[in-house]
Amino acid sequence: MLFSCFFAAWLLQAVVAKCADTVAAPWSAADLKSKLSQNANIVSPSNGDWTTLVARASYPRINPAYKVVVEVATEADIQATVKYANKYEIPFLAVSGTHGWPKTLNGLKGGIQISLRKLNRSTVDKGGKTATIGGGSLQWEALADLYKEGKQAVTGICECVSVAGPLLGGGHGQLQNQFGFAMDNLVSARVVLANGTVAVASAARNPDLYWALRGAGHNFGIVTSLQVKVYDVGQWTVFAFIFLQEKLEALYTLVNKIDTPKTRPGKLMITGVFARVDAIDPVNPAVIYTVSYEGPKADMQKFADQFIALGPVSTTITENVNYIDLYTVTGNDKNNAVCRKNNNILGAGAALPQWDMQGLRTAYNTFSNYTLDPRFGASAVLLENYGINAAMKIDPKSTALAAEERTRPILVSAIMWYEGDDAKTHDDARKHAKAMKDAFYRGVDASKEKRHAYVNYAYGDEPLPELYGHEQWRLDKLKSLKKAYDPKNAFGFYMPLA
Ligand SMILES: *[C@@H]1O[C@H](CO)[C@@H](O)[C@H](O)[C@H]1NC(C)=O
Ligand SMILES: *[C@@H]1O[C@H](CO)[C@@H](O)[C@H](O)[C@H]1NC(C)=O
Ligand SMILES: *[C@@H]1O[C@H](CO)[C@@H](O)[C@H](O)[C@H]1NC(C)=O
Repeated sequence: MLFSCFFAAWLLQAVVAKCADTVAAPWSAADLKSKLSQNANIVSPSNGDWTTLVARASYPRINPAYKVVVEVATEADIQATVKYANKYEIPFLAVSGTHGWPKTLNGLKGGIQISLRKLNRSTVDKGGKTATIGGGSLQWEALADLYKEGKQAVTGICECVSVAGPLLGGGHGQLQNQFGFAMDNLVSARVVLANGTVAVASAARNPDLYWALRGAGHNFGIVTSLQVKVYDVGQWTVFAFIFLQEKLEALYTLVNKIDTPKTRPGKLMITGVFARVDAIDPVNPAVIYTVSYEGPKADMQKFADQFIALGPVSTTITENVNYIDLYTVTGNDKNNAVCRKNNNILGAGAALPQWDMQGLRTAYNTFSNYTLDPRFGASAVLLENYGINAAMKIDPKSTALAAEERTRPILVSAIMWYEGDDAKTHDDARKHAKAMKDAFYRGVDASKEKRHAYVNYAYGDEPLPELYGHEQWRLDKLKSLKKAYDPKNAFGFYMPLA
């Protein structure tokens, strides 16, 4: 009843209201605002900023339901909001990039959005080996701040997503082959816990929280700032190829051959996409393949030559690309379609030990079929081999991340892109994505290995071991830490452990 009471009070903007069956005073925006710093804002649906603040990728399919947005300006604002929400039993969700797509986010109903976007400053720390990044920073903001000082950090692949969001589930990106996943570069984090307390998580302080944050972090708190390792920036060479479908097997046989720790240099970044490019092939989807290298063209030519030998129909070479422009050159920048908001994205990722040609061909044919349906014509498929050279060297026991993430070099996901909010279309998209996942898993299913999906690419209906690892000790440890840090599952809307 507290809830309906609150709802009525909210509509009336009343500070005082009484319900017949409860004595608790309802909460109000004014009351919450009085507990926040001067620069914090509370935004209601009637406010002009509402639309911008609640916009998200994957909407309307993914649509956490907010009653109010709190734009926090300080860590203390987050603490105050969490304590206030706890007092009135209002669910809450902290957001920064708003690109998460798991359907579990739809579990938030009538909640508070804690927008971290004002916490978007990043600075290189004294000594130049680490940087401190705001919990609400988007990648392009953080990278620009670091670049000014000649530094770069391992972040995710899309410029418009946050730094913290991908990192807490692993953080795959262009620098991972050299330096490990984004989370492997986390030195410490400041975290507002479920009870509103701030904890520092590092190897020395709260090591169990530090362990859990790296791989299952969304379940444990609101990260207000991250201290991460940084590296000197370099210049990149990018080969962008387009292949016709008949080269599919030859191309991915080559990728299997190159992508081993012995044969692949750390600075080589390779990744592919299926998409329809009518100007290239009006009938069949094409395979877009990108081979990038942090260094001069001469140093990577022998790798590029192997792709050229397969006979791409299009080759574009860009040299002397700095780390900021790399996002634009590789099509992952904030103005690219990958960063659209208010457009459905449905993904259902899988991690694979190697390319299985039969499964790959089935997936290709499936994609080719459903993209003939005009509703799904703009969809794509991610076929990523970012490289696990550095990630493999880290003891998988030392972080919460599933061990499979460190041994499987391939991330795939259908990306269903479509408009509207029609139940049948959502269902068709889900079925197509599932068919793609099953096709990609053909080799895994036929072997003794088990399915594993990267938590940030998963659909949201996978069994826990498929996301957080098949080792019982790891799941037990995660569940016991979850119970200690978040007994009421306040952080239960993004791939919940409980
Ligand atoms: C932080 O966000 C504000 C607007 O929300 C923007 O004006 C500012 O440039 C951002 N700061 C950085 C460092 O990106
Ligand atoms: C693609 O569609 C055709 C015609 O409907 C069908 O025969 C074929 O089995 C489909 N292939 C896949 C992989 O879905
Ligand atoms: C908040 O939770 C943490 C983690 O469980 C605990 O260590 C701390 O004592 C709690 N703080 C308060 C004020 O209850």
